[in-house]
Amino acid sequence: MKLSRTWLSAAAALMLAVPATAHAKDYKVGLLLPYSGVYAALGKEIDQGFELALQTRLGEMAGSKIEIVREDTEVKPPVGLAKTRKLILQDQVDVMVGIVSSGVLGAIRDFVHQSGTPLIVANAGNDDATGARCSRFITRVSFSNGQVNRPMGDWLYNKGVRKVYTLAPDYAAGHQMIETFSAAFKAAGGTIVGGEFTPFRTTKDFGPYLTKAQSAGPDAIFVFYAGGEAISFVKQYASFGVADSVPLYGSGFLTSPLYVNAEGPAAKGVVTSLHYVPTIESPENAAFVKAFSAAYGHAPSEYAVQGYDAGQALVEAVKSGATDRAALAEALGKVRFTSPRGPVEIDPATNNIVQNIYIYETVQGDGTLTQKILDVAKAVRDPVSGCQK
Ligand code: PHB
Repeated sequence: MKLSRTWLSAAAALMLAVPATAHAKDYKVGLLLPYSGVYAALGKEIDQGFELALQTRLGEMAGSKIEIVREDTEVKPPVGLAKTRKLILQDQVDVMVGIVSSGVLGAIRDFVHQSGTPLIVANAGNDDATGARCSRFITRVSFSNGQVNRPMGDWLYNKGVRKVYTLAPDYAAGHQMIETFSAAFKAAGGTIVGGEFTPFRTTKDFGPYLTKAQSAGPDAIFVFYAGGEAISFVKQYASFGVADSVPLYGSGFLTSPLYVNAEGPAAKGVVTSLHYVPTIESPENAAFVKAFSAAYGHAPSEYAVQGYDAGQALVEAVKSGATDRAALAEALGKVRFTSPRGPVEIDPATNNIVQNIYIYETVQGDGTLTQKILDVAKAVRDPVSGCQK
């Protein structure tokens, strides 16, 4: 697939907050996302959010131009690594943005670190990347796998759920999401009665896994699935009749507003946790939902806000006067702003974002499914977990 390059120039923006200067530095951004494969829709949404932020805030960058070079990871770690090498060595980008899969992030971490190129992670929640394998060059503005799932452990137990069965794809994110949820749920007093990891990117039929889950006799099933796998899973959860006997919970990507309407009525009533839903009530979110919907014709999802905030973080770092890669990395590790998702800041101990986690239920809205916020865990910060920058 041929991916486009984009030039964004403040000089072309209608309203310049700051007059263009003759010597403003231009920046080359390597946008590394899945534009094909099970997470292709996620990649596109992050890309759109990123461009929207730059277009909205370019006038603040004192005449700098931004060139975006896009590459497709195909959700495959070796491809992600080859594309990272290309962006850094051949294109000589100033900063990299993107990465959806925890597997790809794990594969590129060492090369990114050793090359000294700042990377703004706009999705992949791999706990190690801001834990034992953290780097001063890697700043995550999305979430960590543990951060999203830990709050559900207590929450479910407090709702009276005692026995849970877990399912997730068999790769880093699936394992970390289930491990962190399970640890919190067990610490609260609950029991994990069983679980399985399904082959990643290739499982089409979840029937046998659902049958096994049901026969373990849990009070609830807790899962992580995203993108195309989430759509298949939720539909099959209903069609195999499991929905009638065992309630479904999960990390909020399961019922992302990006594809929840493709899941259909089966998603109704599913309760999950996530760092963003478009129904958050704040002036920042109202403006974001309006601008994103006007530009792309649908309400933004968590992936959109992650791309948007990756753009906002880059603008903030540039505004702080950082021009070379080391200074950009350092500045990125210090950003804080009010995001559509609420107040956010980068934790200097890990370079992971500190943010609210929303427990939400998918409910019927006006013609489409929507998100009802049930609870908020405020300013959730990850434990340092061996990070030494
Ligand atoms: C991940 O691999 O870290 C990942 C992928 C998709 C999501 C969330 C996390 O929606």
